[in-house]
This record gives sequence, C-alpha cells and structure tokens, in this order.
Amino acid sequence: MTKSIGILTAGGDSPGLNAAIRGVGKAAINVYGWNVIGFQNGFRGLLENRFITLDSMALAGILTQGGTILGTSRDKPDKMLVGGKVMDMTDAMVETYQKNQLDALICLGGGGTAKNAHKLSKKGLNVICLPKTIDNDIEGTDVSFGFDTACGIATEAIDRLHSTAHSHHRIIVVETMGHNTGWLALAAGTGGGADVILIPEIPYDIEAVAEAIRARSRKGRHFSIVAVSEGAMSRETANRLSRAERKVEKARSEAARRRAEAEVAAIEAERVGNTSRLTRELEERTGLESRVTILGYVQRGGAPSAADRLLATRIGTAAVDYIERGEFGIMVAARGETTVGVPLKEVVGRRKLVPLDHEWVTSARRVGVCLGDVPPL
Ligand code: F6P
Repeated sequence: MTKSIGILTAGGDSPGLNAAIRGVGKAAINVYGWNVIGFQNGFRGLLENRFITLDSMALAGILTQGGTILGTSRDKPDKMLVGGKVMDMTDAMVETYQKNQLDALICLGGGGTAKNAHKLSKKGLNVICLPKTIDNDIEGTDVSFGFDTACGIATEAIDRLHSTAHSHHRIIVVETMGHNTGWLALAAGTGGGADVILIPEIPYDIEAVAEAIRARSRKGRHFSIVAVSEGAMSRETANRLSRAERKVEKARSEAARRRAEAEVAAIEAERVGNTSRLTRELEERTGLESRVTILGYVQRGGAPSAADRLLATRIGTAAVDYIERGEFGIMVAARGETTVGVPLKEVVGRRKLVPLDHEWVTSARRVGVCLGDVPPL
C-alpha cells in the first residue's frame, strides 16, 4: 500500500536539515514509492495544515543548502499562541495528521522537539524524530547533525583570532553557542588551540583563569585565546543557581515555588553579558588588553560540512525503514557506524552533558589547556 508521510523541522535551524529532509524524501520515493509532504514552520504548519509536496523536483538541489526549506519555529503543540492566547493545540494537530491520512510524521529537531513529538506520539500519532542541533546535547545519540559544521566555523574563527591576538598582545575571549552544554566550545577550542576553554559543566574560578594567562605571559606568550561556551558560569554563580534550583524542588507551596523559579530565572538572565564581564575582569586581573568576540548565529548558518551531509543522509534514509517496519515513538540515533532507534521516553527531559572524565576533557588538559578549575594532579 502506498504510504503518505509528513516531515517538519522545529526549534533552531541547523546545517544539515535540508540534507536530512532530502534523505527521508528520496528514500521514501525511490525505495518505497510513498507520498511525502513537508509542514511549514515547525508545529505551526501542522496546526494550520500548511505544507508543500516534497516530490523529486522539490528535493533536488537542497543537499548543500543551509537552513531549512520548510522553515522552522519554536512553537510547542501544547502551548501555542493562537489569537493572542496560549492554548493546547495537540488535538488540532492530530486532526491535521488524520485529514492528510498520514502513516507517519517525522520531526527533525533537538531535545525540545523530541519532547513535543513525544506528546503527539502519546496521542496515537506514528512519530519518529531525527536529532539535529549544533549543541550536540541530545541524549541517546553519539552526535547530532549541525554540530560538525558549527565546530568547523568556530574552529576557523579561533584560528583567525590567534593572529590578531598575537599581533596586539591581547586576550581574546571568544563565545560559542552550545546552550547549557560545552561540547561546541570544547571541540572548537581544542581544535583551534585555545589556551583556556570554559564550559558549563566545569564552573570556573576567575583567578585560576587569570593565573593561567599570567603564566603564559611569564613564558613570553603575551596573548591568550579564551573559548567560552555561552552557558559557562563562575563557581559563585553555579553555587547560587544550584541553591535556587534546590529551593524549587523543595518548595512546599505554589507561591514558594514561583518565588524560587523567579530566582532561578534571574540568575539565568545574568548570563547575558557574562562573556563581556569575564573579558573585563580578565583585563583587570592580568593587565593585558582584552577583547570579546561573540560568534552567535554565524555558527548555525550556511552550507553543512561533508560530515553533516553524510550523517543527515544516513539518519534520514534509515528513518523510512523504521516506518516500513512500523517502529514509532523513537528517535533515529547515530551509534558508531550505524543507526539505532531510541525510544523517545529515553530522550525527553534529558540533556547530554560533557562527562568530566570525557576524553575530550582529559586530552585538552594534557595539552595544557586551562579549563577554569584547579586541575586534578
Ligand atoms: O539550540 C541551538 C541554539 O543555537 C543554541 O546554541 C542557542 O542557545 C539557541 O539555539 C539560540 O536560540 P534562538 O534561535 O531561539 O535565539
């Protein structure tokens, strides 16, 4: 029987999304002869039944394109802004799925998308997720597509910052994305030869960072590159945050919980401007002129790397076999040289942090990178 499947892309865009759409679409058409449609702008398109037909013509020439031809949004099915009100629209999305007589819905996204897709799966939809994010923080997969491209962009930026930092005898603090995890800063920082790498998993001691930079100066290296993940925090901030988070957990009343949550939100909001504050403090403590570079959205833009094209194609084409076998409620994950179906309930609500004994951490230390803490002997 000819099947019909829908695809959507949700959350922040990422290089490799189009390669994955193409992988799913081409395999569905070439191998099984199915019909494929693509909902526009994430879950919003599923709500409003706005889609394009993904036939062979629509899928041609998109492998190398950045962004997503379907558009994306951060809309959540159970918290949609409709007519100025936030509403649970999951049932309306189920109706769209049924109206189009879909056999499966493939959702391309990160941890948030997996959570939203899981809600639709619990309503009876045949859902499959594919892991995309430049942050590489999705539980259950070795790697997500988008990460390799972002690493390449951030590494090239760090390479370029070296020559200007060296010429001016400056500290250059370069901020990468990564949300609350340090994969991107650690990979690009190590690949680009940063002298200091600060990640959220290792709260930093500002004096340890300043001392590492002063030690370089004493050896005649009057410049330093500090790669900092957007979610990195000082020890003091990390301690305040975990105290506030404990208050949320222990709150005995609704009012107490709200107060504690507001405290958590206020501490998290302090992260905006954190990298500039860190840069100023390092200048004061070391006496070296310091500058900041925030890489921002440039890390998410443009053509995917060869590794991301390959990963997205592997995962996308594998997804159609899961549909054919009737395996749903899963994320198709990369595991070594192959792909595995990980139940969505094992993915949602979890975040893949950098383990403190990860080889990337130990190898960075071994080449003399300061990770902002007092390194183990
Ligand atoms: O999750 C991907 C990501 O690019 C993070 O690295 C970053 O913190 C966030 O998205 C930015 O989100 P937005 O696109 O909503 O500004």
